[in-house]
Amino acid sequence: MKVLVTGGAGFIGSHTVDALLAAGHGVRILDNLAKPVHLKGKPDYIPGEAEFQLGDVRVKADWEKALEGVEAVFHFAAYQDYLPDFSTFFHVNSVGTALLYEVAVERRLAIEKVVVASSQFVAGEGLYRCAGCDSLRAPGLRMEEALRAGRWEHECPCCGRPLSWIPTPETHAAPPNAYALAKESQEKMALTFGRRYGIPSTALRYSIVQGPRQSFYNAYSGACRIFSLNYYFGKAPTVYEDGLQKRDFVNIEDVVAANMLALSRHETDFSVYNVGGDRAVSVSEFAEIVRREMERRTGKSLPKASSGGFYRFGDTRNAVSDSAKLRALGWKPAHGPEKSVADYAEWLLAQKNVEDILDYAEAAMKNLDVVRKVEA
Ligand SMILES: NC(=O)c1ccc[n+]([C@@H]2O[C@H](COP(=O)([O-])OP(=O)(O)OC[C@H]3O[C@@H](n4cnc5c(N)ncnc54)[C@H](O)[C@@H]3O)[C@@H](O)[C@H]2O)c1
Ligand SMILES: [Zn+2]
Repeated sequence: MKVLVTGGAGFIGSHTVDALLAAGHGVRILDNLAKPVHLKGKPDYIPGEAEFQLGDVRVKADWEKALEGVEAVFHFAAYQDYLPDFSTFFHVNSVGTALLYEVAVERRLAIEKVVVASSQFVAGEGLYRCAGCDSLRAPGLRMEEALRAGRWEHECPCCGRPLSWIPTPETHAAPPNAYALAKESQEKMALTFGRRYGIPSTALRYSIVQGPRQSFYNAYSGACRIFSLNYYFGKAPTVYEDGLQKRDFVNIEDVVAANMLALSRHETDFSVYNVGGDRAVSVSEFAEIVRREMERRTGKSLPKASSGGFYRFGDTRNAVSDSAKLRALGWKPAHGPEKSVADYAEWLLAQKNVEDILDYAEAAMKNLDVVRKVEA
């Protein structure tokens, strides 16, 4: 098949490009090498066998050129950040996806499959259970007053008891920010335009994905990068809140396997699937996995992460996906966070000018003004 991969110079895109080439497909990449993701220009891991088109998913003419002769599309190109430039999320992510379908319909392109990258963030705070009321709850955004007072957990609106999170299935959507709203719109376009115009389409809601090639300059690439960088310099990283919030980090190899499954299996047409990790871990547990790995590789004794009463504006308390729907098709996460951390550490330790990276990351976080402190 001839496959277009938008965002193919990025983290998930480039690993998917490698898998497509290995499976004998022809690949075209459409990517604008956006900054700060590609602060240092075109990455050298882009394989020569892939056709590279420098272009922007906001530009219709770029889609027209990119879609020529293509039988399948992976749409990964996206704007992901913490900045309050709300319109950019819709401009890149929503308008970009609308243009994909617009061009496909106008030109009556014979596209056999579109896979759109969505995010666990679409589920927002996710689902909970109240033991007191024996009922399912979908809590809204956490209030700033509660966070400022160090009250992290969601409470039942009826009986006031702390709620217990449960893995959240695809049926739940409560996007809490511009990124998630735009991602949900991409899912909906894929399913609606796809079905209406007979373009088989699948949306994959990835949990936090980890592995090598995650940009060091992307504010979005989060915990693994920050913890690893701190340990690289022998410092104790800070975990936000009390460190007990849960995540189901998913390994890049499992994500690529899900992508390839979606491409080849028609049962996935017109449907959304969670692509989650093998288990839920707390952020503190995750920091320990990073610490042990960096100790093993550097031979130094490293300090444990601390939680200094900081929290990050806009974070969800727990984010754990229920991937039963995808598991029913035979997929399952084969790797835990230990492997993601080990692979990332190897990648980090092979980089040059790491000092610059930490400086950049710290300055970026300060500028964002999203880290706040509990009032005693
Ligand atoms: N990494 C994660 O943890 C994660 C989790 C959930 C969902 N996703 C989604 O998966 C997709 C890929 O994420 P990633 O982590 O590989 O990101 P990434 O930043 O590494 O890659 C994105 C690529 O898109 C390109 N791009 C950005 N804007 C563009 C534009 N206007 N036109 C053309 N190309 C553009 C960038 O240059 C980059 O190469 C995104 O849609 C993202 O929303 C990622
Ligand atoms: Zn209750």
